[in-house]
Amino acid sequence: MIGVFDSGIGGHSVLRALRAQLPDEPFAYFADTEHAPYGERDEAFVAQRSLAITRKFIEEDGANLVVVACNTATAAAIHLLREAYPQIPFVGVEPPLRPAVAVTRTRQVGVMATRGTLASAKFRALHESLAASGVRFILQPCDGLALAIETNDAARVRELCERYVGAVQAQGDVDTLVLGCTHYALVDDVLQAAAGDGVRLVEPGVPVARRVAALLA
Ligand code: DGL
Repeated sequence: MIGVFDSGIGGHSVLRALRAQLPDEPFAYFADTEHAPYGERDEAFVAQRSLAITRKFIEEDGANLVVVACNTATAAAIHLLREAYPQIPFVGVEPPLRPAVAVTRTRQVGVMATRGTLASAKFRALHESLAASGVRFILQPCDGLALAIETNDAARVRELCERYVGAVQAQGDVDTLVLGCTHYALVDDVLQAAAGDGVRLVEPGVPVARRVAALLA
């Protein structure tokens, strides 16, 4: 059994890709809605929740692989999960900066993510590792957006997408927008409308599914 978790429904964007790639695998999905959103919590809290969910998956449900379908939890906790369960493979999700570097023509890329993800050491290391690419990354913390998606508040989702995409576009000629939170992929149509047709959205679901398939193989 493959355990998949997120703070809420956001990880469904990853689960969708997993199911498409691996239709015969049994998946269990845990949405930690009681403690969502994670993105504006401190790292220790997110790490403690991630460990508790992982413990349940492995010790109670018999999971033999765990997908951390949350950028914020991956940044805060995946190293701790690997330490706690060295025999279990973990696949996390991080803002797809590298794929964005491969496709941008203007060399200016917007990154929308939670405050927690953007402040993490893991994200900083990823960002710094791409300094030599010459691509300028415009980092946009999107407070409240995951919560609006989680609570299915369509008006608020539209308002926040327009506000944050507008803030990114005001800073540069951005042709590529990284969706660095799994919730955001669930409203990619709203984000695309806010950004305009000339902007390409980059989501991490498919690469995560490919990585899981490779591990299983
Ligand atoms: N979906 C999550 C992520 O990818 C977390 C959103 C939240 O709970 O703030 O970061």
